[in-house]
Amino acid sequence: MLVLGIETSCDETGVALYDSGAGLLGHTLFSQVAMHAEYGGVVPELASRDHVRRLLPLTRQLLERCGRVLSDIDAIAYTQGPGLAGALLVGAAVAASLGYALKVPVVGLHHLEGHLLSPLLVSPAPRFPFVALLVSGGHTQLMRVDAVGAYRLLGETVDDAAGEAFDKTAKLLGLSYPGGPALAQMAQSGNPGRYKLPRPMADSGDLNFSFSGLKTAVLTLVRGCDPDSQTRADIAASFQQAIVEVLVAKSVSALAREGLDQLVVAGGVGANKALREAMSKKAGREGFEVFYPPQDLCTDNGAMIAFAGALRLAAGAPAGNGFKVRARWDLEELTIASA
Ligand code: KG4
Ligand code: ZN
Repeated sequence: MLVLGIETSCDETGVALYDSGAGLLGHTLFSQVAMHAEYGGVVPELASRDHVRRLLPLTRQLLERCGRVLSDIDAIAYTQGPGLAGALLVGAAVAASLGYALKVPVVGLHHLEGHLLSPLLVSPAPRFPFVALLVSGGHTQLMRVDAVGAYRLLGETVDDAAGEAFDKTAKLLGLSYPGGPALAQMAQSGNPGRYKLPRPMADSGDLNFSFSGLKTAVLTLVRGCDPDSQTRADIAASFQQAIVEVLVAKSVSALAREGLDQLVVAGGVGANKALREAMSKKAGREGFEVFYPPQDLCTDNGAMIAFAGALRLAAGAPAGNGFKVRARWDLEELTIASA
């Protein structure tokens, strides 16, 4: 079964072709980051308009590159939510129209389901059940994953998401949007031990997170001095270390509580090298396995949507030709009747 995946939930237009026999045939992405950077964040209306401009040309290019034509497509998967309503509507409209024209099923996907299943795209893949740490710009959650479509929330952030904290802190350090990768780069030349920043909710006894206080602590540091470049690098490294420590500690607690020994790390912040190193080191010491999506599939992309769409259809999820988006949507609502 050949599935076309469409991702337009935020500021990346992603399309992909996934074949249930041959695997991922290809994926392509247009990032709007440069366009939004001058505003310091994503401008929803501009995002929607750009998805309109990019989506069909990208789809044509991808089909050509993969040596396929529209009539080869057996199903279409698109991101139904959560995300920016206008941006989601572009993907939904293209998916519904193509589905109608080609007379193929259309399945609306949860963006986070795409992220959390993406490590299954590569080998070795995690086996169900596992714990997933989802760390993106909009979400920070620990999930128990028993099967495709069977997700239980174990804990989540009570304020900022990890990616949001990276982006806001990066802004305080004078880096442009989205600052996460730039802050990580800056942290490489910094001393993570120079500033003792808080480890928010590290001892809260539950699996929730809080990152807004960390950002405020950085604000206090930056306000108190006019940081030179070494100081800024030291702040970046100290901040990164604090956030990584909390993410690692809570993931380990989640595995212990659930009695599981496989962890999936997914979402944009999963691309962070310091997090990967610390998590892998901890896994080696504590005897659990950790799985990541390929580096280029950590941030938003169409491949995870095409892939999750194929898995959901194979698991018996209902498909239709519906035209629906959900700007807010809990992953736990996704239960597949047959799962
Ligand atoms: O999953 P994603 O592409 O989009 C959402 O669904 O939100 O995640 C984007 C987030 C941004 O906050 C970005 O700054 C962060 O992931 N990010 C990183 C890194 N790469 C992306 N944060 C820290 N280190 C990185 N290397
Ligand atoms: Zn995402």
